[in-house]
Amino acid sequence: MKQWRWLYPLTVALSCLVLVIFFNAPSRGSGTLRVVTEPTFPPFEMQGEQGQLEGFDIDLMKALAEEAGLVAQFQSLPFDGIVTALQSQQADAAISGMTITAERAQTVSFSRPYFKSSLAIAVREGNDAITSFEDLEGKKIAVQIGTTGAKQAAKIPGAQVFSFDSISFALQELANGKVDAVVNDSPVTLYAMKRANLQGLKIAAELEAQEYYGIAFPLNSPNIELINQALETLIADGTYREIYQRWFAGEPPELPLVAPALSEAEAGEGSTFNIVKLIPSLLLGSIITLQITAVSVLLGMIGGVLIAIARTSRYKILRIFAKWYVDFFRGTPLLVQIFMIYFGLPALFQQIGFPFSFNRFVAAVLSLGMNAAAYLSEIIRGGLESVEPGQLEAAESLGMSPTKAMTYVVFPQAFRRMLPPLGNEFITLLKDTSLVAVIGFEELFRRGQLAVATSYRAFEIYAVVALMYLVLNLLSSRFFSFLERQMNPVARAKKAMAREQTT
Ligand code: ARG
Repeated sequence: MKQWRWLYPLTVALSCLVLVIFFNAPSRGSGTLRVVTEPTFPPFEMQGEQGQLEGFDIDLMKALAEEAGLVAQFQSLPFDGIVTALQSQQADAAISGMTITAERAQTVSFSRPYFKSSLAIAVREGNDAITSFEDLEGKKIAVQIGTTGAKQAAKIPGAQVFSFDSISFALQELANGKVDAVVNDSPVTLYAMKRANLQGLKIAAELEAQEYYGIAFPLNSPNIELINQALETLIADGTYREIYQRWFAGEPPELPLVAPALSEAEAGEGSTFNIVKLIPSLLLGSIITLQITAVSVLLGMIGGVLIAIARTSRYKILRIFAKWYVDFFRGTPLLVQIFMIYFGLPALFQQIGFPFSFNRFVAAVLSLGMNAAAYLSEIIRGGLESVEPGQLEAAESLGMSPTKAMTYVVFPQAFRRMLPPLGNEFITLLKDTSLVAVIGFEELFRRGQLAVATSYRAFEIYAVVALMYLVLNLLSSRFFSFLERQMNPVARAKKAMAREQTT
């Protein structure tokens, strides 16, 4: 009996695993429609107080699915990943305030239009210099990545465009005073200004061109017909109007059967994707990535040395602080730290009456550097502690001052031992720089993401991006091996001997 005891925990673990898989597996049986959405776009899609999805799109999609005899199963995705998810059949449909454009229609199929919208420029109150799109020339503009707003902004001559994963970050940037304007769908900007905790913004202008939202499907999906019919029924029987009035005031506008963008398909906007044309931009991205890495490593080294010293200090308070620092920065996700520093700190200081804001580069290297310092301090401490105390004693008994003994005897030996973990840390940091893309920093990964957002060629582009990271890391690991060889007295002596023999 006793020898079977281990079976019990094993059974429990296996059942948990089965449960997890069961609850996560998208049930693909007939009758369910896997619908993706990017739920930070109120009032179209957002997270309710209990974490449930809600909004105009969500209500409409549920009603449409029901009418078509299907069950909508929602999943969240970043907006710039939606078209590729449909393209690769990872979802059956997408409802996400997505404008029907001729460009997108080459990769996905759209339902008939279900909402009429337009783009608007938001600025801070008191900014009267911007009253039209022409006034945005040479200005700083924040947008959501992959949206029609981003595309419009990119057309403005001399404008500096910063792209964020969610429109709420872009609006926060504007409120924080870091950009001059946000270009976004006007119902969403209006809603954010009214409901969200964003004061001091106003709409400066609206673009004349109408945009129509459609539900997107994989090309030629059989569900398009079903959903189109359902939409027709809901419009006719008043359900559409009822849902519309839950979220918007007034009567719903007339909707065309085909979005004008498709019937008058902009000629010449066809896909002329060529990965070679992207290389210069990606190379520039790698240089920026290297720059952030270098500055962060430098900051991290300085911080790491200070913390390592504090950790071995005579003063208890310093030791406690250093321990706490390491625990905090190692124990919380780097992504959370980046958000806290870049979006959190300025908002906090604004509340207590000290408005200030970070430069993007400073925020990026500060968060990466502070995080790296925690890891580096442990590497440095470990290295220093690995040198036997006898070495220091021996050096001091030869008449060296403690500082001299540290510099010439202990540190060189410790440094040699620190090199392999330092190399690891460098490579980790280089890869982690991709996380600062979330604050709109255009390093290598973000540049790739931006290219995917307009061309929908996820595989090719990310493969090139990955290759570039790989090359950077192979080069840096070569450099660290070289350093290790240089620091190894035996290898160096052998080399010197070999040189002597040849001469
Ligand atoms: N209508 C715009 C577009 O299609 C923005 C949509 C953004 N939607 C969202 N859920 N974030 O590009």
